[in-house]
Parts: sequence; structure tokens; C-alpha cells
Amino acid sequence: MFDFDRVIERRGTHASKWDMMAQLSGIDAPDAIPMWVADMDFAAPPGVTEALAAETKRATHGYYANTGSWTGALVEWMARRHGLKLDPNWVSPTPGIVSGLGLVLQAVSAPGDEVVVFPPAYHAFRRIILANERRILDAQLVEANGRYVMDLDALEKRLTARTKVVFFCAPHNPGGTVWRSEEIRALAACCARHDLILVSDEIHCDLIFAGARHTPTLTAAPEIADRLITCVAATKTFNLAGAHVGACIATNRALKQRLDQRIAACGLASYNRFGMIATEAAWRTGEAWLDALLPYLAANRDLFHARIEAAAPGARAMQLDATYLAWVNFSDTGLSPKDVASRVKDRARIFASPGPQFGPGGDTWLRFNFATPRPILMEALARLDEAFQDARAKR
Ligand SMILES: Cc1ncc(COP(=O)(O)O)c(C=O)c1O
Repeated sequence: MFDFDRVIERRGTHASKWDMMAQLSGIDAPDAIPMWVADMDFAAPPGVTEALAAETKRATHGYYANTGSWTGALVEWMARRHGLKLDPNWVSPTPGIVSGLGLVLQAVSAPGDEVVVFPPAYHAFRRIILANERRILDAQLVEANGRYVMDLDALEKRLTARTKVVFFCAPHNPGGTVWRSEEIRALAACCARHDLILVSDEIHCDLIFAGARHTPTLTAAPEIADRLITCVAATKTFNLAGAHVGACIATNRALKQRLDQRIAACGLASYNRFGMIATEAAWRTGEAWLDALLPYLAANRDLFHARIEAAAPGARAMQLDATYLAWVNFSDTGLSPKDVASRVKDRARIFASPGPQFGPGGDTWLRFNFATPRPILMEALARLDEAFQDARAKR
């Protein structure tokens, strides 16, 4: 019903993943394969294409009227997929998640305040904290049985009077960790003890593989709802990253008011028409597409993990319960990070996200985006196999 094998030419279409590759990676080979930025090389759900086609056919693209249907679609989606009951009054649309994080920081903290991040963590967390002149407090994740866990005892010892906010990524990027309820509850209790605002970025919450289950932070720890802001979007789930619409959800009226004041102060309470139409259509019509996508991604994950571990003996992919971003540690390959990076970049002509981008703990890792049609994935795997051939022979 949905042809995820179809290769769509994205070069020359303002696709950041493809068209910024040479500039950002230095790989200028015409056959380079991008496995970095987190969007997919698949067509969006047909209902999204139809909604956008209807809009362009009508050809009137004036200001968007927020009648409540967008929030309604979000609320229904969260109830259906995650059993999360939301009041529409808790929802503030933002022009994406990262911009929402910036607005939250401005609403609840001051320059010089500290923001907790759990590295290795999504690199834009670091960027938006520093751009807002706040400081990063790294709470290093620890590996246990192939997945990440938080060391909250270590974090608590390092909190100061200036620590105001925690950026929590659930599920986690990179690492694909789906947090357990008790882990979320422990973090929530820590936030309550130290009067911290907990920001739960759940943009990857729909990209969960069979056997795992996402628990929204609001569901796991309703007792700290007053200090919680949850960020969600349709853009990652349905491959609409360029639509740039997200939402912040806050049950605490005073907290939401502070956030809405920032949104108003930046003139962001008038929404991008195309983004709103595309994301509402996705929530309303995209479920069958997502249900077909997830097993396709799971098969890509299994293929990628098996082949990268065979190509580079000693390489180890982290157990991935969510996201389409394979997180691979090359520390036991006997090769230096520089050598590994050069094999991937120069020999395989693949742009993967460098581990250090994700902060402390990422030095020997690379992140590979495998959300691409199988023919492209197979080509990438064949090249990786070749890129490590001599290293295999030497072992
Ligand atoms: C954890 C996380 N948050 C936010 C984003 C980006 O959100 P947006 O494009 O809406 O700013 C990403 C994209 O990869 C992500 O992985």
C-alpha cells in the first residue's frame, strides 16, 4: 500500500540532508549518501499530499485561522496512540520543537542559569542553551545492559542554586532509549526536590519499535505536572520536518501563560499555514502509513546493525527501541576515531553524524540515519563493508 522502497531524487530540492552535505561534511562525491540529519527519504502519508495539493489548487494562502481543529487533531492522536488525555487549553503551538525549547528557556530561566542535559544528547539542545546564554550542566548517561540509564545520584550532587531547567529527551536521541516509567518517575522526583522545570521532548514518541512502549512523562509522573512542559510534533513521525510546527504542553496555567507571553513577544502566535495544514492532515489520516512504516524501519535497523557489526569487527550498535538513528560505538575496533571517520566519510562516501556533536561520551561513536529506501541502504552497507575490509583482514 505504501512504497517505502521507492527512491525519490532529493538532490537539488532544498533537502538539507542531501543539498548541504558537501558543504557540511566536505564529501563532494556525486554519489555521496547522507545518513546524518534526522529526516526520512520517504514520501509523506498520502493524506498530507492531498491536503497540500488541495491548498495549492485553491491557491489562496492567506493568514491561518486557528479554529482549534489542529489542537483537536493533536489531542485525538495522543489519546489514541499513547493513551494520554490532554486538555486543548494546555497546548501552545510553536514553530518547531527547538524554537519551543528556546522560548521555554526564556520563560523560566535567566542568562547564566544552568540547564541539565543528559549526554550524549541531541546536539540542538546544547546549541539552544548556549544561544540563550544559559549554561549546560551535563549529566552523563551510563550504559547498562546495552541501553542508557540516568545516574541521578551523580546529577543531584552537582546541582546548584543556578540550575533551573532539565532537558529530557524521551525517547532518547541518540541511543533510541525508551525510558521506563520508574526511570521517569525518579527524574521527576529529583526535579521536584530541587525545584526544577522538566522539559520532556517527546518528538520521537511515535517511532517506537515492536516490543517497546513509550510512556509520556505526564502519564508516568502526573504528580509533577505543575513543573512539566512536554514538547511534541507530527513532523518527525510523518517526515514533515520542513513544515516546522510543534507544540508545548503545560498543565500549569501560570507556567503556560509565561510561555505564551514569550511566544507573543516574538510575534509567533500567528502560524505557518502550510505547516499547520500538513501536520493536522498527518495526525488525522497518517496512522496506516505509520503502522506500515515502523516494521520497514525495524527491518532497516536489524539489517544495519548486523551488517555494520560484521563490517567493522568490534563495532557495537546500541539497542534501538525507538527512532531511526543507529548509534554505533567503534571503540573496540582497534581503530582511532579519526580513522573510523575517514573510512566512513572518504572511502564509503557516507555522511554520518559525528559522535562528539552529541557532547561528552560521544567520542568513539557515529550516528547513522537508516530511514531511507532499501536500495540506498544496501548501497551504503556495501560501501561500509568495503571501507573496513583491510581492517577486518588485519584482525
Ligand atoms: C530530540 C529532538 N528534538 C527536536 C528535534 C527537532 O525539532 P524541530 O525541527 O521541530 O525543531 C529533533 C530532530 O532531530 C530531535 O531529535
